[in-house]
Amino acid sequence: MTTRRIADLLKTGQPDETTTIQGWVRTKREQKEFTFIEVNDGSSMAGLQVVVTQTVPGYAEAIARLNTGASVEVAGVLVPSLGKGQRIELKAASVLVHGEANPETYPLQKKRHSFEFLRTIGHLRSRTNTLGAVFRVRNATAQAIHSFFQARGFLWVHTPIITASDCEGAGELFTVTGLDLKNPPKTAAGAVDFEQDFFGKHAYLTVSGQLEAEIMAMAFTNVYTFGPTFRAENSNTSRHLAEFWMVEPEMAFCALEGNMELAEAFLKYVFKHVLETCPDDMAFFNERIEKTVLETAENIINSEFGRITYTEAIALLEKADRRFEYPVSWGLDLQSEHERYLAEELFKKPLIVTDYPTEIKAFYMRLSDDGKTVRAMDVLAPRIGEIIGGSQREERLDVLERRMQELDIPAADLWWYLDLRRFGTVPHAGFGLGFERLVQFMTGMQNIRDVIPFPRAPLSADF
Ligand code: 4AD
Ligand code: MG
Repeated sequence: MTTRRIADLLKTGQPDETTTIQGWVRTKREQKEFTFIEVNDGSSMAGLQVVVTQTVPGYAEAIARLNTGASVEVAGVLVPSLGKGQRIELKAASVLVHGEANPETYPLQKKRHSFEFLRTIGHLRSRTNTLGAVFRVRNATAQAIHSFFQARGFLWVHTPIITASDCEGAGELFTVTGLDLKNPPKTAAGAVDFEQDFFGKHAYLTVSGQLEAEIMAMAFTNVYTFGPTFRAENSNTSRHLAEFWMVEPEMAFCALEGNMELAEAFLKYVFKHVLETCPDDMAFFNERIEKTVLETAENIINSEFGRITYTEAIALLEKADRRFEYPVSWGLDLQSEHERYLAEELFKKPLIVTDYPTEIKAFYMRLSDDGKTVRAMDVLAPRIGEIIGGSQREERLDVLERRMQELDIPAADLWWYLDLRRFGTVPHAGFGLGFERLVQFMTGMQNIRDVIPFPRAPLSADF
């Protein structure tokens, strides 16, 4: 007898079919002569109803042990279900309880728990309806990302997690060291001597795979990365993690316009794929978490994204009939409240803002002829704000060298990056999508810590 996943059985299982399922008990309802248990194996939101009659060997003992959270294997035959909302159920012939869960101490009893509480039981929370749906959608999103790029001939490249360069120049780096922290070697000037460290230099966890992705794009034309990135920014917000996954396409022979087109096509594709592959989970989010989830998804798929320059964005914000917490003026970065106002209230759809002031953007962005702005683009989403950040890259050696000098970025450290401008340089562009922000946007979840299985944030690295 084969073991089958519950999602599969609910879809295609036929009456009279014998089968075995394995999973965890969600609920138990004892009747006089039999007991209903609902078993979930994570393959779908819905579990399978199992009927255990007194004729099943060891009935009394098994039922006593089958409380919420217990793990079980049931062999039996599928029968049409009389219960509402389900086509079939499993009539048990034998029941094997693998592990009990004491109802006095198992924290996930059948009631609503706050997401804050669930974060304290990160080892169990994936067994809840909401987190289960989140991680299935997360999986489908990851798969959609790969199929989007693979279908377009992009090569998936694996960029390093340990690096010696600060791509964003924001100084939000975690150090990776093998030095004895109690007694590190010192330079003559009294600083820690990283030349004596494992890598012979100061090494960090990467904040972005972009610089290495650029290397690979200069050989394979179109590439993308998809992996973890790290930021030591002390932001305790609902949109920031210290460890998050980033998707970074990089395209040679491409300017900002092509980059914007890719970003828009990409988001449309991913939303469409997830709506098609996870309809039950998405319906659940729409009903229980955020009433606009499905409408937002349709809106992404069917409407054209707005496009404005940073200068136009500032003008719109200055005209806004509202007081913002942070000041608005040309030259200052947009804060999340500004981004949300533009995307959520003015445009009511995703919006691409381009051509930001040079001073507030990273060193690698292509300088425009006005001398004041760079060819940057941010995609702003309703509810989330910035979901994608990208740019056309500076491909001109002299301009890049000048820019690095202005920012005190030592050319010696990035000699290889400059070399790319010496040998076969081309216009190129790319962007970074925060994977968790995308999953957050898609599911309507309020806090980014609830869309990654094991969130890393200030003062929080449990599990
Ligand atoms: O805008 P960012 O800093 O851009 C880069 O790192 C570029 N090197 C990307 C590129 O062009 N290849 O980060 C990109 C995206 C942001 O738009 C945001 O969605 C996400 O990464 N992000 C975070 N997500 C969660 N927690 C954080 N602390 C994040 N910081 C950035
Ligand atoms: Mg950014």
